[in-house]
Order: sequence, then C-alpha cells, then structure tokens
Amino acid sequence: MGRTTDQGAPQDTLTVKDNRTGKIYTVPIADNSIQATAFKAVKAPFKQGERPENETDKGLRIADKGYLNTAVMRSEITYIDGEAGILRYRGYPIEQLALHSNHLETAYLLLYGSLPTKDQATLFEEEVLHHGVVHSDAEQFFRSFRYDAHPMAMLTSAFAYLGSYYAEANPSLQGMYILSSLLGWLTPGTDDILCTGQTLYTKGSPESLAIMDKQILRLIGKATTLAAMAYRVRQGRDFVTPPTGLSYTGSFLYQMDHLGQENYVPNPVLERALDVLFLLHADHELNASSTTVLQTGSSLVDPYSAIAAGCASLYGPLHGGANEAVIRMLISIGKPENVPAFLEAVKRREKVLSGFGHRVYKTSDPRSFIVRKTADEVFKVTGRDELLETAMALHDAAMKDEYFTSRKLAPNVDFCGLIYRAMGFPLDFFPVLFAVPRVVGWLAHWRQMMLQDGGVKIWRPRQIYVGEGKREYVPVDQRVAVEGPKKTPSPIVHSGITKRTMLADFKGKAVAKL
Ligand code: CMC
Repeated sequence: MGRTTDQGAPQDTLTVKDNRTGKIYTVPIADNSIQATAFKAVKAPFKQGERPENETDKGLRIADKGYLNTAVMRSEITYIDGEAGILRYRGYPIEQLALHSNHLETAYLLLYGSLPTKDQATLFEEEVLHHGVVHSDAEQFFRSFRYDAHPMAMLTSAFAYLGSYYAEANPSLQGMYILSSLLGWLTPGTDDILCTGQTLYTKGSPESLAIMDKQILRLIGKATTLAAMAYRVRQGRDFVTPPTGLSYTGSFLYQMDHLGQENYVPNPVLERALDVLFLLHADHELNASSTTVLQTGSSLVDPYSAIAAGCASLYGPLHGGANEAVIRMLISIGKPENVPAFLEAVKRREKVLSGFGHRVYKTSDPRSFIVRKTADEVFKVTGRDELLETAMALHDAAMKDEYFTSRKLAPNVDFCGLIYRAMGFPLDFFPVLFAVPRVVGWLAHWRQMMLQDGGVKIWRPRQIYVGEGKREYVPVDQRVAVEGPKKTPSPIVHSGITKRTMLADFKGKAVAKL
C-alpha cells in the first residue's frame, strides 16, 4: 500500500488513488467485498486549519449511516436478491418452504443448515414444546405490568427476565461448575463441567454446543408461552400451562384462547395460517433487529439479553411495528374513496405509507404473495376484513403512481396485519406475532456468530466527531447562557400533578427555568 503508480496491480484488487498525497493503494477484493480496515493505511498530512479530530494522519474512515453498504458478517443463513424479489433460507426458496415445510422444521433448517430427517424433526419439535413451560414465578412478573401495558413491552422485558433463571447460560458468571445432568443432551454420568464464563458459547466443544442449543430450545419453546401470557394479562385471563399434543402454533393458540372448555382444539386453518406466517417471519438476514441481536451479543452477553435487545429493536414502526402501523393507517384512511387524498399527503411527506418500501426489496417482497394467498384461506373461515377494500384500493393506486413506482416502493410483508385482524388479534399484539417467530432467525445469526472462524469481535463502530475541539472548563459564575431549540432541555409539563395541586401553595413550588 502507498505506491505512486498503479502498474502491475494484481487482479481481484481495487486500486485507489489518494489525490491529497498522490499515493496509490491496492486493496484486495474477496467475495466482491473489500475490508474497511484496508483504508486505515490511507493517511495524509493535515491541511492548514484542519480539525485534529479528523485524525487525517491516522487513516481514512468509512462513513455509512444506516449500514447502506457495509457487510458485517459472513453468513450462510439467508439470501435476498432485492432486485429480483428472491428470498431463500439456506438455499431453499421461501415459496417452497411456505408450501411444504412448517415453522419448526424451518427453524431447524435456519439454525443448523439442513432440513431435518423425520426423526430429527420429531426430536426437535418435542424438545421445543417440552421447553414451553415457564417457572410459575413468571405469573407474578406478568401481573406486575399495568393493565394496558403494550404486549411488546412485556415480551421484551420477559426475555431478559427469563435469563435470570439460567445461571449456567450466562457468560458473565465466570468459572462456574454445573452438573452435567443439567445439560439434557449429554451422556448421563459424565463429570461436572467447568463453564469457562466468557468463552461459554465460542468454544464449539460438545459441552459448549450443548449449553448453547439448550438455550435455543428454551428460547423458541418459551417465546410462545411468554407471548400468550402477555396476551392473557391484557385480556384479564388466568394463565394456562402449555398443552401437549398440539403443534407449535396450535399450542400458542390454545395458550391464548383456552378458557377451560373440554377437548379444546384450535381451528386447523388458523393454526396452519399462523404457522405459514411464522415461517415467513422466521428470518430476513441482517435486518435492524437481527443486527441488534448480533451487536448486543458481540459483547458476549447471555442470549436472553441479546434476544430482549432484538425484540426492542423490532418494536419500532419502521420494522416489526409496521404491521400494527399498517392497520392504524388503514383505519385512519377509512373508505377506499379517501385513498387518493391520503396518497397526496404521503407525497407531501405529511403522512407515512406503512407497509410499503423496503431497504432491500426494490420490487414486490416475495413474502407478500404468500401473505395474499394465506389471507384468502383465512378469510374463507373468518370472513373478509372490512379494511380489505381500502387496502386493495391503496395498493392499486400506489402501484400506478409515478411517485411510488419511481422510488421502487412496493408492498412488503406487513399487510399480514389484515390476517391478524381477521383472526381477532388486537392491534398491539401484531408486533408480538412478528417477534415470536423471529426469535428463530435471531438465534440462528447469534449461533453462527458465536461459532464463526476467528472468534467473536466486539462490534464497535467508528464515528466522525464534528463537535467542539478542546476547550477549558468555565466556572459557573463566568458562563454565558447558551439558549435555543435543541440547546437547552425542553420545558417539562408535569402530567402527574393535578390541577388542584398546581393551584395549591407549598414549599419549593416555583421551579427554576431550565
Ligand atoms: N412511503 C413513502 N415514501 C417512502 C416510503 C414509504 N413507505 N418508503 C420509502 N419512501 C421514499 C423515501 O422518502 C425516499 O424518497 P426520497 O428519495 O425522495 O427522499 C425513497 O423512498 C427511498 O427511501 P429510504 O427512506 O431511503 O429507504 P430506506 O431503505 O432507508 O427505508 C423503510 C426502508 C422500510 C424504513 C421505508 O421504506 C419505510 O419507512 N417504510 C414504511 C415502514 C414499513 O413498512 N416498514 C416495514 C419494512 S418490512 C418488515 C421488516 O423487515 O421489518
């Protein structure tokens, strides 16, 4: 690196000329990517008056707000071609999986790389369902939320809470001895095992893998239980123990809906539809929440904390919260005749068209076609949702409008909210129905990262510091007030204080202006 001529540069390299110095650098290309760290060698002297915080002499930095073109993992899990509308899990097209597979079989595929045999699938399903039961203390935990708590707040907290039960799963607890009998998959009678804290998940040894895979089963198994508990708190219902003899989604429906009836069996069409939607949501490569799980997991925190972080990320309206936002948007539009005015407001950037657009897909999201087919099957059982006409009018108008077509904005998966609504789920439960299956994808990426060649590197991005240069501390009596929007804390309205208290007189009532 750092020559002044580019002659004889080998193939599969990138030649970069730094016009500040005239130096030429050769950067290797592998898998059609270059290493950002290669640019650390591209150094230049400071220009007259240049800020030292630019660190120009320490090498060039790569700026990429929003990770628009930064690859942070080598992954074998999911492939998306956003231009062609292709989504594959471990090489299998999503359309084939939606038709022939089921959520737990697909979970096995995403986690371990191949479709399970019949015996492998049976064992995996048994283990997942076996791990559906949670400690009875969890009931108190769920009861401690306000009656109207958003179920995503409950689910996010519940994943972190769950981690408090499994000391052997926590890399922060160094050098713990645990009984081999705790590790269900190990040979009975083997000696106690020393879990070496920080390397608990990164060793790849049979013991380490057994601990990792047990947490995976627990997390997938309990995801539906925790979600159902969040649902039942909101409905004012007692909790139920996960049933036996039902599928993953059948058990989930039972846990939400069973009210003591004899021989209660969920509707098979709804059970299968939910399973297909779970499969469609199981993974979507490095989206915001999966990246959050990896970012959090890169500090080697326990998987429960990492999954809780992913859940929090998914809750946002640009991501998993979009399915809830779609329905709120359709309700606000009301009738099909209001669609043109709504789209005009979107174009004026006064409103957001939820359920349209995607960072990766620049054509229709392939999952949206499966969602439509699934919707038809569900509507046969539940009846059509009254918002469907509005949704279709919105879709048709947007797909004909140059504003949306020129930006390659097409429907994404989040119109599945119409199916959830037809199935009778409350609006704020929709992101939960996204988060529960996505636990699988989060864990597949987390497992892959823990076992990647070369170990785990903590994710610590760089910044471009544009703030003040060094300045000296000013004693309080010599300061000049800095004022203006964003430069001082905003005035606070104390909503918890009643009008009567505001009118009352008491010591310390006059609050200093911030
Ligand atoms: N409605 C109107 N305009 C849009 C929309 C939309 N839904 N999405 C993008 N645009 C415009 C955007 O304003 C920009 O226009 P311009 O270049 O004139 O400023 C252009 O399209 C490019 O968009 P972008 O914001 O650069 O795209 P992004 O990749 O940063 O954002 C997105 C992707 C999904 C956050 C965005 O499309 C969006 O906000 N969609 C609505 C929310 C939604 O449905 N999210 C769920 C995504 S799918 C499920 C999941 O994976 O979570």
